[in-house]
Amino acid sequence: MSFDHAHLLGIEPLAPRDITTILDLADQYADRGRSAAKYGDALAGLTQINMFFENSTRTQASFELAGKRLGADVMSMAMQASSIKKGETLIDTAMTLNAMHPDLLVVRHPHSGAVNLLAQKVNCAVLNAGDGRHEHPTQALLDALTIRRAKGRLHRLNIAICGDIAHSRVARSNIILLGKMENRIRLIGPPTLMPAGIAEFGTEVYDDMKKGLEGVDVVMMLRLQRERMDGGFIPSEREYYHRYGLDAEKLAHAAPDAIVMHPGPMNRGVEIDGELADDLRRSVIQQQVEMGVAVRMAAMDLLARNLRSRATTETVMA
Ligand code: NCD
Repeated sequence: MSFDHAHLLGIEPLAPRDITTILDLADQYADRGRSAAKYGDALAGLTQINMFFENSTRTQASFELAGKRLGADVMSMAMQASSIKKGETLIDTAMTLNAMHPDLLVVRHPHSGAVNLLAQKVNCAVLNAGDGRHEHPTQALLDALTIRRAKGRLHRLNIAICGDIAHSRVARSNIILLGKMENRIRLIGPPTLMPAGIAEFGTEVYDDMKKGLEGVDVVMMLRLQRERMDGGFIPSEREYYHRYGLDAEKLAHAAPDAIVMHPGPMNRGVEIDGELADDLRRSVIQQQVEMGVAVRMAAMDLLARNLRSRATTETVMA
C-alpha cells in the first residue's frame, strides 16, 4: 500500500490510485467500526492537534474520534479562546504548536490557502479540514466511500451536485475527486450560486432541478452558505426551496435507486425536505457521518506510516 504524500491538503494533488488507497483502507476501518474491535494502535505514541478556526460539529468530532480510535494523543485547541484573539497570526500560533512537536495537525480555516501556507511552516503532517471555499478533502473522500459502498463502484456514475456551488469547498473537492474517477457530474443551482469559470470544470450546468436530476444515480445537496455571502444571492428561502429544495417530487426525476446525500449541517425546508432527509430508503446522510470517521482514520494512518518511514531513513542516514 503506497501513499507518497507528506500532507493531505486537497484532492487536487492526489492521483486516482491514492484515492483508491485511502478508500480501501477506510473500508476496512468502517467494517471494524461496526465490530467490537474498533480500536487499533496505528497512531500510538503520536500527538494529534486539532485547530479549528471555524465552527464545526461533524468534522472536528470525527477527527477527534478517529485519532483516539487509533491510539493517538489528541488535543483539540479552543481557537475562540486562543491567542489569535489577542492578535497573534495564524503562522505564530502554528509555530508555537510546532515547537511542541505534534505529529499530525488538523486545521480548518476561513481563508482559502491558509492551510497550505501553514503546511510550509511546520514539520509535521498537516490535514486540511476545510479552508475557505478552496478544499475539504476528507469530506470528498467520505462522500466517495459512501457512494462506492452504496453503488458498488465509483466510476461511470451520473452525479448531481445541487445548490450553493459557488461558496462550497465540499462541491469543489467533490468535483475534482469524482472527475478524477471518471464520473459524469451535473451542477444544478441558480446562476448566482455558480462559481465564475464554471466551464473549466468540465461539468454540465443546469438551473432547473427536474431537468438536471433526470436519471442521475446520486443527488448531493449543499447548504446555503450564508456566512460566505455578502449580498442577495437568492430572492427568499421560500422561493429557493420551491425551485431548488430537494423533495420527493423532484427526486422522482432521478434514477429509481438514486441516493440522497448532504454533508451537513442541514437546513431542513431550505435545501432539503426533512422527511426525505430521514428516509433511510433513499438518504445516506447518516452513512456519510459514519464513513467520515473511517476515512479520517485511514488518512491519518497513511500519513503516519510516511512520518515513521521518514524518521527511520533519517536515523539510518545519521
Ligand atoms: C461543510 C463545511 O464545513 O464545509 N460541512 C462539513 O464539513 N460537514 C459544509 C457546510 O458547512 O455546509
